[in-house]
Amino acid sequence: MLKNDMLEQWDRENFFHPSTHLGQFARGEAPHRVIKKGSGSHIEDRDGTRLLDAFAGLYCVNVGYGRTEIAEAIAKQAHELAYYHAYVGHGTEASITLSKMILDRAPDHMSKVYFGQSGSDANETNVKLVWYYNNILGRPEKKKIISRWRGYHGSGLVTGSLTGLELFHKKFDLPLSQVIHTEAPYYFRRDDVAMSEAQFTAHCAAELEALIEREGADTIAAFIGEPVLGTGGIVPPPAGYWEAIQEILEKHDILLIADEVVTGFGRLGIMFGSEHYNLKPDLITIAKGLTSAYAPLSGSIVSDKMWKVLEQGTDENGPIGHGWTYSAHPIGAAAGVANLKLIDDLNLVQAAGETGAYFQKALADHLGSHSNVGEVRGAGLMAAVEFVADRDTRRFFDASEKVGPRIAAALLEHGVIGRAMPQGDILGFAPPFCLTRAEADEVADKTARAVTQVLGKG
Ligand SMILES: Cc1ncc(COP(=O)(O)O)c(C=O)c1O
Repeated sequence: MLKNDMLEQWDRENFFHPSTHLGQFARGEAPHRVIKKGSGSHIEDRDGTRLLDAFAGLYCVNVGYGRTEIAEAIAKQAHELAYYHAYVGHGTEASITLSKMILDRAPDHMSKVYFGQSGSDANETNVKLVWYYNNILGRPEKKKIISRWRGYHGSGLVTGSLTGLELFHKKFDLPLSQVIHTEAPYYFRRDDVAMSEAQFTAHCAAELEALIEREGADTIAAFIGEPVLGTGGIVPPPAGYWEAIQEILEKHDILLIADEVVTGFGRLGIMFGSEHYNLKPDLITIAKGLTSAYAPLSGSIVSDKMWKVLEQGTDENGPIGHGWTYSAHPIGAAAGVANLKLIDDLNLVQAAGETGAYFQKALADHLGSHSNVGEVRGAGLMAAVEFVADRDTRRFFDASEKVGPRIAAALLEHGVIGRAMPQGDILGFAPPFCLTRAEADEVADKTARAVTQVLGKG
């Protein structure tokens, strides 16, 4: 008991929390929360408060909390062999099996999977592979990576640069010079309100083309994008976007990295977002849904086209100089095998699609007519409600009013977790795939109540 009573003090004195206001937290001005257990779509804190987690942690606990099948697979692996490395041809039954399971599910033209631990390190790997690839092909100048404003690809040095959110650059001397950004495919926030969706797609394509021309196609190696923008606001692309972008990339011999850390393994109601949007990526980034976050594991799925050049590279230069101690960690791999099996057994990809459609409609029904709701949008089990000060003129609230965070806080008071997305007044949802329709209704209903509480009846 005594130990438990000390937790808050220890937390504030010792723990450097990510993505946290450090001063406010240390001084006791920002909430401290200890999560103790979870089951299905709910978590419970140490005081016994039960919360409906409509963001699945950080859109990662896709199969829901408390899955004993995965816990048991992890325990079995830990007892049998907690660790061995994957260097120089070593593997475990779990890591080899998982690589086969991933390739069985990935688009046909993908060839191999490299394992890391986080989405950030997987994108770090991807950038290195792209650079290596162009060096082997004898074009050392072709190195820049194009990302989108509002893209999220991690928070390392290169990956934090790829991320197109100001908070992740400011005071960190990012982005690095090898990374350049282009227009976000965010129709609701288009500068010219008169533009149709098709015109906006053409505008995004023209912006990309102009950037490539300015920089020189022979200096640009790859384009990275999430099939659906995630942390930047949960924004499905405008119609025709990916077709237009891919055509330009092909024309200029620029590789495509599909960052499927959020969309991979079913969140859009289909195994990969690449299938949904007809993408033909050269690399696919996977993490979160690969293990449903029961253990840290990520991956870079490499296409046939790139793999051939990587092989040529090691024939010419010796073993690839890239690897982490924890690449293909057996415990992560065991969690991944059990997780993908569970997704199949329970038909959870289909469930994500069906519940996603139901949930989006419930949100639109409950919130769509509120005068401060500018847009309710989503794809599969990703959804967002964007708030505006004036719907007719599409005037946004001043950031200092913290409308998004205040609504998220009010929703939490009602026992539901939604996420105030970091740039804009946007409430995001990405619940576990096991969300029931009753739970979807509950989230929509309580969100409407939270909005009324903060902004009035509208
Ligand atoms: C699309 C995308 N890529 C990469 C990452 C980075 O993953 P991690 O936080 O595991 O490093 C995230 C994290 O939210 C993400 O959403």
